[in-house]
Amino acid sequence: MPDSSPDASPPSDSPERHLITAALPYANGPVHIGQIAGAYLPADLYARYRRLQGEDVAFICGSDEMGVAILMRALREDRSPQDIVDAYHPHIRESFERFGMSFDYYGRTTSDVHRETSQSFFRLLDEKDAFKLKTEEQLYDPEAEMFLADRFVMGICPVCGFEEAYGDQCEKCGSALSPTELENPRSTLTDATPELKETTHWYLPLGEMQGDLEDWIDTHPEWKNNVLGQVQSWFNEGLKDRAITRDVPWGVPVPPDVAERHGLDAEGKVIYVWFDAPIGYISATKEWAAEQGDPDAWKTYWQDDGTRLVHFIGKDNIVFHCLMFPAMLQAHGDYVLPDNVPANEFLNLEGRKLSTSRNWAVWLHEYLDDLGSQYADEHGDARAADLLRYALAATLPETKDADFSWDGFQQRVNGELADVLGNFVNRTMTFADRYFDGEVPPLEDPKEADREVLAKMAGFPDTIGDLYEAYRLREAVFETMNLARLGNKYFNDTEPWHTRSSDPQAAANTVHLCLQICASLAILIEPVLPDAARRLRAMLRLDGVRTSTPGADPAGASGWADAGEPLLDAGHELAEPDILFDKIDDDVIEAQIDKLGSTDDESSELESTDDMESTDEMNDTEATEPYADLKDTIGFEDFMEMDLRVGTVTEAEPVPDADKLLRLEVDLGFEERQILAGVAQVMEPDALIGTSVVVVANLAPKEMFGLESQGMVLMAEDRDGTLSLLTTEGEDGAVIR
Ligand code: 2FM
Ligand code: ZN
Repeated sequence: MPDSSPDASPPSDSPERHLITAALPYANGPVHIGQIAGAYLPADLYARYRRLQGEDVAFICGSDEMGVAILMRALREDRSPQDIVDAYHPHIRESFERFGMSFDYYGRTTSDVHRETSQSFFRLLDEKDAFKLKTEEQLYDPEAEMFLADRFVMGICPVCGFEEAYGDQCEKCGSALSPTELENPRSTLTDATPELKETTHWYLPLGEMQGDLEDWIDTHPEWKNNVLGQVQSWFNEGLKDRAITRDVPWGVPVPPDVAERHGLDAEGKVIYVWFDAPIGYISATKEWAAEQGDPDAWKTYWQDDGTRLVHFIGKDNIVFHCLMFPAMLQAHGDYVLPDNVPANEFLNLEGRKLSTSRNWAVWLHEYLDDLGSQYADEHGDARAADLLRYALAATLPETKDADFSWDGFQQRVNGELADVLGNFVNRTMTFADRYFDGEVPPLEDPKEADREVLAKMAGFPDTIGDLYEAYRLREAVFETMNLARLGNKYFNDTEPWHTRSSDPQAAANTVHLCLQICASLAILIEPVLPDAARRLRAMLRLDGVRTSTPGADPAGASGWADAGEPLLDAGHELAEPDILFDKIDDDVIEAQIDKLGSTDDESSELESTDDMESTDEMNDTEATEPYADLKDTIGFEDFMEMDLRVGTVTEAEPVPDADKLLRLEVDLGFEERQILAGVAQVMEPDALIGTSVVVVANLAPKEMFGLESQGMVLMAEDRDGTLSLLTTEGEDGAVIR
């Protein structure tokens, strides 16, 4: 392992090395805002922040082009899988570019480098005897002459009885399944009833690797609660061996020499997509290094202990990035392990789960087409991207599911970007232009208020930086806007429109300091508003500043840490003022709302239906049972006796010997409660973690199966008996009335 001795780590004054990855999207559909809020925007905010700090960043992503999801789409459309990924890979890459994603490299897993890298990884683990081989009977479609892996088979879920459960997962109750567990299985290819046929596969023996994984996870108590909670619940259930090969005709082939070692034939066998996809981060880094003319540079990022590897993902990818890929890396032995995996929860849209098949989604390319075309200049996409970046950053589902609404978007743009940030910049620039000849006036004899604002400005880079480094990106963005709020307040309080005649130096001081705040903002807003930062820098003629995009910075460039200090000299000439943000009209918002749910447009052709089917769609069958009778009327006082509170589920696990119960730890803000909920047969513990629920907080404690239940979690029960949790956006401990 090159450069891995402890003294090879960079000295403390060298830039820190960051290898930042964003989940590789499947190249079987366009990208939507749920994915953006889950993984891509947070990753980009973080990468841009680190670059502005002058750190050494490799920001890597690419298209995930293997796997059953792509094969299924190809079969359904009678196209080749290669044809599908060749269409979507450039489409996705282009949408990301238009959105301002600052990847150093965007690769694809059909590349030769990726095939070689994943095959050698597989070979090395095989040679180290890190795998187990198991020969078992599996479901086989005699008509299609194919084994039925994962989503190629459907049947009745053994856990909840749902009739359309897939071979890898029941989407109604969330249970992870294997195809042979399904009752009445049928092939999704031909509808044939599958036969059992013997086949041999490689397994990653995660059960045996659990101890090492637990030891490693224990070294990361700082990870987000939603991530640690899910990992702990997998540990509690006990990790199971996972098959990492498949008998399907699309994927990275199992290397023939590896099969031969075991007296097997590799023909028709491919590596499981969740084995090769994370290796895609490595192969893309290799391709990037080669492109930079330093083919070995990838090793520094992946194999030198000084690297901080951070994976940005959505919560559905936690098990793969926190357990399976680290287990692979540990077994290999030459690689660094993730320093953090700041997974986000899900983003809902207008109060409902995103659904690609019903077009209840905002497609990134469509958003950019619609909103970007409103601007006359060539930066239309970038300007529109900024608005969505800001609105999403302000509502990131960091600790629990969050909601995106078009009205909320309009409010963020008009009420925050235009009225707070845009207004501050505009009033400052206009004042300087009109009354100070477009130059930075000198600061002389500053008063108390001037010194105070200067001192406050100095603290912003650290305060915001600490939030970025703690992966509290939503707060980081909020705090960034607070600098503009501070600027507006200072402008208002010092009233330069009055002092201009009564005390011209006081007005000059106000404008001088407001311009310094604008310059500071021109750096600090860049992670979230890269195009507005570019335009603000141009207005201020602020040169010699780092950029957060890949590439060399000017020598001696100022960056994040300098943004607390005045950056503009008195007498510095400014460019013409320009409006930073236009307000969004109601008709634009209405047009976007009208598009939701309609499928008569381009998106229906492009959408992916395989990975996004949401639970609520599955429950959509017409209920035929009668509604429950209304109970007797109660007085208002009776209702007020109940203390209903918001709480976040932080842990969830089965209760031994109790089929129906899950033990939940619920954070009420002011205290933690243990609550037993009768949902074990219909909900996976993992799915509950991070969810904000409604708790009856003053219910007398009750003992069940030797455990005390300290309250009740409220649920809705449909007429067919389907249970769904009542979830809320309120903060923990909030009173519900
Ligand atoms: O969930 C997904 O969209 C996967 N394609 C993510 C893969 S992430 C990584 F492992 F490549
Ligand atoms: Zn089920």
